[in-house]
Amino acid sequence: MDTINSIAIDGPAASGKSTLAQNLAESLGYLFFDTGLMYRAVTCAVLDRNGDVNDGAFCTRVAETAQIDVRPCSVDDGRQADVYIDGQDRTWQIRAPEVESCVSIVAAYPGVRKALSAQQRRIGLRGEVVMVGRDIGTVVLPEARLKVYLDASVEERARRRFEERTGEDYAAVLESMKERDRLDASRDLAPLRIAEDAVVINSDGKDADVILAEVLAILKSQANGG
Ligand code: DC
Repeated sequence: MDTINSIAIDGPAASGKSTLAQNLAESLGYLFFDTGLMYRAVTCAVLDRNGDVNDGAFCTRVAETAQIDVRPCSVDDGRQADVYIDGQDRTWQIRAPEVESCVSIVAAYPGVRKALSAQQRRIGLRGEVVMVGRDIGTVVLPEARLKVYLDASVEERARRRFEERTGEDYAAVLESMKERDRLDASRDLAPLRIAEDAVVINSDGKDADVILAEVLAILKSQANGG
C-alpha cells in the first residue's frame, strides 16, 4: 500500500484531536478536516426533518441526499469551519445537546458510514490533509503517512466539555461522555480502536503546544528515515 501524504488523528470525544489537528495543519500548511462535523450534520438534518434517529433507512437516505458543506470559517465567533446543511448555516446547531446525544446512534448505521467515509476518503487521498475522526487510520485512510491516536481519561474529557458549556452539570456531561464512548467503541462497523501502526499519545494534563511539538518531532524523525 502506497503511503499518502495525509495525517490521520483518531481518539475519543474531547481528547484534544481538533486542536492538535488544527495546529498541525497550520504548521505544515495542510488542510484541516474534522469528519465528526459530517456525522453531526447528518444527525442535525435527521432531527430537522422530524426524523427518527432509530430509523436506520431514514438516516441513510439523509446521509445520501442532504447537502452538507464544510467551508473555511467566515464568521469570527469561535467556530473552526462553517457547516452548511441544505444551504443554511448550522455551525452551532450541530453542537447542540440534542445532536450530541443522538450522533453516536446515527454514526453506527452502515449506510451512513458508507456515504460519509467515501466522501472523506476522496478528500484525504488528495494529500496534505490532517483528518480527524474515529476511524481515519483504520478505515478511511489506512495509507496515511502518520496515524496518531490521541487519548485522555474520561474525567478529563468531561471536564473540558463541561468548561466549554454553560447550564449543564458535570455529572450529566460525564455520564453522556461515558455513554458515547461505549457506543463509539462497541458498534459493529468501524468502531473506535487504535490502528496497529498508530502512535498513541495521552493528552491528560498536557498543553496543546507540547503535544504539537511531540508530533512534529515524530514527523521530523520519519523524514530522516527514523
Ligand atoms: O468528534 P465528534 O465528537 O465531533 O464526533 C461526533 C460523533 O461522530 C461521535 O459520536 C463519533 C462519530 N464519528 C465517527 O463515528 N467517525 C468519525 N470518523 C468521526 C466521528
